[in-house]
Amino acid sequence: MILLCRDFETPRRPVGPTSHTPVLLDQVIEVLQPERGGWFVDATVGGGGHSEALLEAGSDVRLIAIDRDSRALARSKERLARFGDRVRFVHAPFSALEGVLPEEARGRVAGILADFGVSSDQLDEPEAGFSIQHDGPLDMRMDRGTQKTSAAVLLANASEDQLEEWFSEFGEERFSRRIAHAILQSRRIGPLLRTSQLADLIERTVPRGRRGIHPATRVFQALRIVVNRELDEIDAFFESAPRMLDKSGRLAVITFHSLEDRRAKLALRNEVRSGEFCDLLPRGITPSSAEQRCNPRSRSSRLRAIMRQGGGE
Ligand SMILES: C[S@@+](CC[C@H](N)C(=O)[O-])C[C@H]1O[C@@H](n2cnc3c(N)ncnc32)[C@H](O)[C@@H]1O
Repeated sequence: MILLCRDFETPRRPVGPTSHTPVLLDQVIEVLQPERGGWFVDATVGGGGHSEALLEAGSDVRLIAIDRDSRALARSKERLARFGDRVRFVHAPFSALEGVLPEEARGRVAGILADFGVSSDQLDEPEAGFSIQHDGPLDMRMDRGTQKTSAAVLLANASEDQLEEWFSEFGEERFSRRIAHAILQSRRIGPLLRTSQLADLIERTVPRGRRGIHPATRVFQALRIVVNRELDEIDAFFESAPRMLDKSGRLAVITFHSLEDRRAKLALRNEVRSGEFCDLLPRGITPSSAEQRCNPRSRSSRLRAIMRQGGGE
């Protein structure tokens, strides 16, 4: 079965303790069909927007809500409190998906969502260190409790070649060599400890890019990916998530940049080629222009989804 893209309503606004607007919300609900009830997993609960919609749409949904950021979990716990024990919150990386599911849910899950990347709450909180706009410590760890290495520590210790490789591979940055060299020069004067220091240094080093996009955007993306081992996390997620699904179980993922999307596309295609899954959105869905206008952060997102065969659909 293939879902066709249609015009969806404009996105909901952020609610309660979060500043994050969930992207492609109606499409996620249409794909995951929570009205079927059963075990659902939100592997990236964030501000709880998608989780809330899943719980509202299916009165028999039991949800496992995962996030590696304890502040995100606190916000979503507050938002989803009214659903009581229908929700279990788990502080863990989604690479640990199989281990955190209750025994009775493994292989029986009706729907899994992963909305990769960082939330507006994280981007807008200077102390988290992801923001180019707001000055803060160069941190970028999603889980400061278990992750030891911040972006500042990486920048202080990496060789010029290593920095260049990260910026080019994980940021697809054209000026990676020039930026890596400028960082090494700057380290002679003193350490880079603040997001504004790094953003200013890059602004002085490379020509101004496309209008509205800060020239440090790609380097910030690359550092975030390295600090949080984001691509390894995604690979591990795709190793286990499809195997947690029941017959007719659905897996939906939202990606935000080409590195994530390439991984998602290949992993889902492999599952479809195995014959066990069918593709619900062969080219993926992107947000409508109305959604992009209301929520500019949705612009680069893409939803992909597969379904386990054999449930009589
Ligand atoms: C785009 S936000 C999700 C927003 C959410 N869907 C909503 O509606 O509010 C991504 C979330 O995933 C979390 N995250 C990122 N990588 C993770 C990982 N490897 N394991 C668990 N959570 C992760 C982030 O901390 C962040 O809260």
